[in-house]
Amino acid sequence: MCGIVGYIGKRDVAPLLLEGLQRLEYRGYDSAGVVITSPKTPGLKMVKAKGRVRDLEARVPKRFAGTTGIAHTRWATHGAPSDENAHPHLDAENKVAVVHNGIIDNATDLRAKLVADGVEFLSETDTEVLTHLIARSQAPTLEEKVREALRLVEGTYGIAVLHADFTDRIVVARNGSPVVLGIGEKEMFVASDVAALVSHTRQVVTLDDGEMATIKADDFRTYTTEGSRTTASPTTVEWEAESYDMGGHDTYMHKEISEQVDAVDRVLRGRIDDRFSTVHLGGLNLDAREARTIRRVKILGCGTSYHAGLIGAGLIEELARIPADAEPASEFRYRNAVVDPDTLYVAVSQSGETYDALAAVQELKRKGARVLGVVNVVGSAIARETDGGVYVHAGPEVCVVSTKCFTNTVVAFALLALHLGRIRDLSVADGKRLIAGLRKLPDQIAEVLQQEGEIKKLAEEYAGAQSMMFIGRVRGYPVALEASLKLKEISYIHAEAYPASELKHGPLALIEPALPTVAIVPDDDLLEKNRAALEEIKARSGRILAVAHQEQEKADHTIVVPKNETELDPILMGIPLQLFAYHTALAMGRDIDKPRNLAKSVTVE
Ligand code: AGP
Repeated sequence: MCGIVGYIGKRDVAPLLLEGLQRLEYRGYDSAGVVITSPKTPGLKMVKAKGRVRDLEARVPKRFAGTTGIAHTRWATHGAPSDENAHPHLDAENKVAVVHNGIIDNATDLRAKLVADGVEFLSETDTEVLTHLIARSQAPTLEEKVREALRLVEGTYGIAVLHADFTDRIVVARNGSPVVLGIGEKEMFVASDVAALVSHTRQVVTLDDGEMATIKADDFRTYTTEGSRTTASPTTVEWEAESYDMGGHDTYMHKEISEQVDAVDRVLRGRIDDRFSTVHLGGLNLDAREARTIRRVKILGCGTSYHAGLIGAGLIEELARIPADAEPASEFRYRNAVVDPDTLYVAVSQSGETYDALAAVQELKRKGARVLGVVNVVGSAIARETDGGVYVHAGPEVCVVSTKCFTNTVVAFALLALHLGRIRDLSVADGKRLIAGLRKLPDQIAEVLQQEGEIKKLAEEYAGAQSMMFIGRVRGYPVALEASLKLKEISYIHAEAYPASELKHGPLALIEPALPTVAIVPDDDLLEKNRAALEEIKARSGRILAVAHQEQEKADHTIVVPKNETELDPILMGIPLQLFAYHTALAMGRDIDKPRNLAKSVTVE
């Protein structure tokens, strides 16, 4: 996803902007650019390039001095990746520079009007429309020029604007795409993601939709797009700059898989109440009396977050005995769903900025629903838009594919299910049992991670497959879905997941030696049913890799994971398959942290 970085202060701005862009590389992009200026040397100086930040850096001239600047990494939406389409975009007089995340829905109409008025466009992007609208404004101040332009725009944006006649400031605005201000000592930063700021400051101000800001070297102020002042409330980023480093691992993905022991410890910390065999979830904003009125839970998320929501729905239904289900947020928001006042809606998102999930939350709020957020990034849009929620405390997840945050999100759902269950009919004995199981998770995860060598060998053996099938039943099915997504995302091997019980209704036709099946086979009440599915596959010469609590004689290979409480087993069964996907992709020479076509946070539709 696109990235924005900006700086205004006394320091040489170009190196700061390039370092900020490097911090955002994990979000996925295909071109980059910077523009700088300074009160001493007015005028805008710009460099941009298709490709990586290092390609941009190679083009920056030796003498490229300035103390104010904005920069951008672009993930192409309108117009192919190219030098011309890279941001920033300047007007013909080189007075105005704009970097933009989001999509301007009415760009075509606005562009037609500008072209008819004699404006010459240099790019195919929607963003360039904004540049020309700002440049043509007769308003006296930069803030008013930007406001005037934004009043004509429909769509989503996070923007930063520089103007050659106002070199003492940067104007930024947010509507649907994150913008965060970083407060320094006589210097200010702006970015689309705190990852670009934390090495300089952890004091940040997150803009809301419809909010703008003017940042100067020693001051900033926030206001609405209509111009009325707003109150900025700085918060402290909880994550240290070091947590964004690779930490000695070859990839962020490997680091984040390995971090799951500590991450799960963090999501549990301070939340377990042994006295009443339950959990405390500060910030839920749902008291016991309200919790007892909930008649249904609907969980919404995208991709991996949706899969975590599926497991969460199962946990809530099983432990709290409340009917629960999960649905892709991207589907929910378009189907004009009936919003039920007795339903508790839960939005799940690592980034807290996924547009499809945020839009679903806004639609639900518009219809008067109660919405909780299960989110990783503190202060993110979904965290702020919902009525309360549970932070999953996975720490910054840099790799495009989600691993530790998936696991922490499922554990957070286990906590929520236990909390709701103990308000209702879940017994003390069951509460104690599940708390004991939760406390065992970090050590058991460490035990699973110790099998990495064997898993690597298995991955290399299966890496040649053109396609793979993943199967599981009930609790195991979402594990199969998530494992198949992991494999697809980073190895580019086609994979699909099916409920094991569905094999005989069609997918069994696919089974042959060339199509391996990964089967989730926990020691639960469905063990014999799962073993029967293995028989069906074996009878058709299918190869089987089982993830189980004991060797499966019908499987060609079994990865054995430690047994926990049946309801919590899905948490452990998914972890070896993260490593399986990782080593399969490695064996195939894939770009693990930046898989093709994908972005870490999809903040556009
Ligand atoms: C995760 O491996 C994927 N990269 C993707 O499916 C992701 O889970 C999805 O885009 C939702 O992101 P979010 O959790 O930040 O909302």
